[in-house]
Amino acid sequence: MAKIIDGKAVSARIKAEIRQEIEAEKLKVGLAVVIVGSDPASRVYVNNKKKDCEACGIISFEYALPGDTTNDELLELIGTLNEDPKINGILVQQPLPKQINVQSVNERISALKDVDAFRFENMGRIVDGNFNFLPCTPGGIMDLLHSENISVSGKECVVVGRSNIVGKPMAMLLLHENATVTICHSKTVDLAAICRRADVLIAAVGKKGIITADMIKPGAVVIDVGMNKNDEGKLCGDVDFAAVAEKSSYITPVPGGVGPMTRAILMKNTIKAYRLQKT
Ligand code: GUN
Repeated sequence: MAKIIDGKAVSARIKAEIRQEIEAEKLKVGLAVVIVGSDPASRVYVNNKKKDCEACGIISFEYALPGDTTNDELLELIGTLNEDPKINGILVQQPLPKQINVQSVNERISALKDVDAFRFENMGRIVDGNFNFLPCTPGGIMDLLHSENISVSGKECVVVGRSNIVGKPMAMLLLHENATVTICHSKTVDLAAICRRADVLIAAVGKKGIITADMIKPGAVVIDVGMNKNDEGKLCGDVDFAAVAEKSSYITPVPGGVGPMTRAILMKNTIKAYRLQKT
């Protein structure tokens, strides 16, 4: 039976450390959170981020724009936030409405305020290993592995999902710690066979229960990035949790695993942004 990795507890420790740092030095650190439209899931995520800011002593500034906001209007707001000394980090919640060009938004955010590390420049730095900002979800997953003293060096790590936000930067962070990394995706032939090779399996697909127990090597570490709804409307991951927990050595739950860690890294990146802007 797997040990459940408690993302809530690990994230609480990170947030407590940030709070201490902010209080000890009486820092005034600000994060702008921009939301466009009224997607209910995005609203929950944004509210959670604001709560985390409060827990850390970071000042959050919310900018809620209507769903029909134009690309130019959004770029103009970001330009204003780039110039505002009270704002140290800028986060534009995704997904964005279809009239918005996500790439233009990412590139407009000042490189030193890009706490999501979504700009090409910051993505490139992650590939190189010389980065200011961690990619939030992959960075949180590495912290979870470290919290249990799980080393990936020389191990077979399989990442299922190739998004720019999770899959690709996840592979890079694992590679920097000397893992042998495979990225799988919707066109992968025999996903199950590749997953069965994994000492560490990261599921970041967005499909409820796609990772089943027959895809797990006995004793594997299983990290679930999925944020799906089950038939009762409850949050659930990509992993068939109960069956996979029987076979793995460690597993993250949904909720309470990776989600809180993503937000904790956002807080870490925001204070890092503050420091970068002061030097
Ligand atoms: N939507 C889902 N995950 C993320 C994230 O990490 N950052 C932003 N800005 N939007 C998201």
